[in-house]
Amino acid sequence: MRLIRLASQMAAVAGHLSRRGRRVGLVPTMGALHEGHGSLIRRAAAENDIVIVTIFVNPLQFGPREDFARYPRTLRRDLALASASGADIVFAPSVSELYPPGFQTAVRAGSLAARWEGKTRPGHFNGVATVVMILFALTRPSRAYFGQKDYQQVLIVKRLVRDLKLPPAVRMLPTVRQPDGVAMSSRNASLTSSQRAHATVLSRALRLARARIRAGERRAAPILRAMRRLIRGTADARIDYVALVDAATLEPQARLHGRVAILVAVWVGRTRLIDNLLVEVS
Ligand code: PAF
Repeated sequence: MRLIRLASQMAAVAGHLSRRGRRVGLVPTMGALHEGHGSLIRRAAAENDIVIVTIFVNPLQFGPREDFARYPRTLRRDLALASASGADIVFAPSVSELYPPGFQTAVRAGSLAARWEGKTRPGHFNGVATVVMILFALTRPSRAYFGQKDYQQVLIVKRLVRDLKLPPAVRMLPTVRQPDGVAMSSRNASLTSSQRAHATVLSRALRLARARIRAGERRAAPILRAMRRLIRGTADARIDYVALVDAATLEPQARLHGRVAILVAVWVGRTRLIDNLLVEVS
């Protein structure tokens, strides 16, 4: 496996691969890799000739009061996991390499970015869309792989690709969970052991909602009340949002129908966690 640090070198290698007709699978990450990333890399390896994993903690997607400085940076371990999972190239540029002095152009995500993560984290998805656009330009992927845990992000990247006529197919893979149901996330590492135990409340709230829907409930309000009650009864947990939304538009539904996304964002101590489930409602 090869480590590339320079954007110019990444672009030259991607150009060479493209001229030789090699299909590139891209797994964009911010590092602190875990099994969730491992599953994306393995799928990319199964479906493409070459897998490029990018590791870049993107300052543009962090707000001024967010955890950019605190975000875990574990390059040595990340290289081992990427290589064991089947990556051929890791592209890990510095901030000044991707955003050199004078950098001033940005991609603006549209209305899909207005609610939920976008409301709590203004500008976040513009930062994601901008860096994803740059990473696509530098790596020239045929396919790009994202985890369902960041469901809103996946919808926004799919929209970016459609609107700006970009080549890669965007693949969303299921959230990888630990045995107690907690979604794999780099942020779990910031939890104390008691907070880690309380973090199960996100997946429990999602499963509760899904069970109510499967039992025939179609009104969003009582389901949301039950989810909020469960989360409020958990020590260290503070709700940012719980929502039942149309899975394509992310608009809230009062009466559930079609493909529904159940979304939760909860502070557990100082760490903000998100999770979701998708349900077909007939
Ligand atoms: O999901 C992430 O890790 C990031 O938002 C991404 C897609 C790598 C862009 O920085």
